[in-house]
Amino acid sequence: MIKKLEISSEHQYNNHRLFQRILEPELMEDSKQVQAYAQADFSEPNEYFLQNLKALIGMIGFEGYALDLGCGPGDISCRFAKAYPSARVDALDGARAMLDYAESIVPSELSARVCFIHGKLPTISLPRRRYDLIFSNSLLHHLPEPQALWNFVKRYAGNGTRIAIMDLFRPQSVQQAKEIVEMYAATEPEILQRDFYHSLLAAFTPEEIEEQLREAGLNFEVERISDRHVFISGTFIIK
Ligand SMILES: C[S@@+](CC[C@H](N)C(=O)[O-])C[C@H]1O[C@@H](n2cnc3c(N)ncnc32)[C@H](O)[C@@H]1O
Repeated sequence: MIKKLEISSEHQYNNHRLFQRILEPELMEDSKQVQAYAQADFSEPNEYFLQNLKALIGMIGFEGYALDLGCGPGDISCRFAKAYPSARVDALDGARAMLDYAESIVPSELSARVCFIHGKLPTISLPRRRYDLIFSNSLLHHLPEPQALWNFVKRYAGNGTRIAIMDLFRPQSVQQAKEIVEMYAATEPEILQRDFYHSLLAAFTPEEIEEQLREAGLNFEVERISDRHVFISGTFIIK
């Protein structure tokens, strides 16, 4: 039987248009949560992310060093490495349990090109000073302070680095968040439904992301690409 998602009184209080974001825990360290997330089938959104990333990269393809921020169980890092055989990927996550899972599933033919790094942005120092491509899926909404991501991007991007970031955006009400969960995750385990719901409430609106980019001095495009996803892309130019 599918259990209906219950909304707490705090969330009901916020059930009005343009409600404030409600933070969720930054790192995904709880073992049950990691297991449920890592074993869930995210092939559809992950492929969707990759399609958008490929459109940004274009026909010429990609050679060089890519950085995956908040890589979680590493599915997107590996899909990317498979799609671009001349690419190397440094994949960063602050949750050791996520990386343990990622390291256990990386196919042997990719292991020389995909390097998982345990550390938390913005304080971690990465092995390279610059990356040719920086991408990230579903990290931004975890951050209490969004400029942590944009400052980190500026720190590791060089002239011409391409940027591709996908995240959820916050719906207009908690009721709408609940409807999205029911529409896309009704048959998922309850822990995943709950995480998805909390992620929607913690996410930024596209307008808030545009404001963050203005504040950071980054000229990237912000596009709603589905009823719940926003895609932020562009090329980093040193002025
Ligand atoms: C929702 S998961 C997304 C994982 C993966 N990108 C995907 O699309 O499947 C977000 C990940 O970001 C990680 N994370 C959150 N804040 C972080 C930070 N400040 N530095 C590094 N990783 C962080 C979490 O531990 C979690 O694994």
